[in-house]
Amino acid sequence: MTHRARKPYIAGNWKMNLDRSKCLDMVKTIKGRLGDGNDREVGVFAPSIYLADVTAVAQGSPLGVGGQNIWYEDSGAFTGELAARMLREIGADRVLIGHSERRHLFHEPDEWMGRKVRCALNHDLLPIYCVGETIEERRGNRTERVIKRQLEAGFEGVRAEDSHRFTVAYEPVWAIGTGETATTEQAAHVHKMIRKWILQRLGDEAAQSLRVIYGGSVKPDNAKELMSVEDIDGLLVGGASLQADTFIPIIEYDAR
Ligand code: PGA
Repeated sequence: MTHRARKPYIAGNWKMNLDRSKCLDMVKTIKGRLGDGNDREVGVFAPSIYLADVTAVAQGSPLGVGGQNIWYEDSGAFTGELAARMLREIGADRVLIGHSERRHLFHEPDEWMGRKVRCALNHDLLPIYCVGETIEERRGNRTERVIKRQLEAGFEGVRAEDSHRFTVAYEPVWAIGTGETATTEQAAHVHKMIRKWILQRLGDEAAQSLRVIYGGSVKPDNAKELMSVEDIDGLLVGGASLQADTFIPIIEYDAR
């Protein structure tokens, strides 16, 4: 299977941005541009308070809608948290897990990651599991070690048969929201390492079907180059996903 046999996946992470009407406007615009969704998969990760409205507007189109986080229990005394089943109930079909802002600002430990991923899969949510090193870790030559540790944690309960509904996002922390993108060489190196790790963990078939996408200051003018890299199967876009005039060109990057 060549990398283009894996359907490109373009995801917008809106974080704690936009208001309700802007979210709905964005969904209407994206929906209008998607066609049948056969050649690329597009998803938006909206603030959870707007998810029910966003899924209602996205309905009937191939646009996927997801939450930015979940807790791994189904119910209980977990003030402020959301269960996977709640996201499913309002029509969301995907979720981000282990985003670097969750890890670094809210101190989510590796130990939660495997349980969150398994919980999402058990509830038929498509997880994007985020990994990435800080600038100190990169400078200290610890990139591979850190990413392997994060992969080990997130893949705890993942089986080979989950590979078509599980996505890994490589997001170097130093490239998120900084305007600094990893060079294609840097990204290619880490993506290759991740694919090799998956191969050793889950076997060849899973490694060929599991998508590994890149995130960190993706913009319309670097989307095409990033997507030309063999092991980059999609893009996780933060800042540039907040406006149609920057997100649409990324979705519609020229694949030739
Ligand atoms: P950015 O964010 O595109 O603004 O760097 C990416 C992300 O955090 O997923």
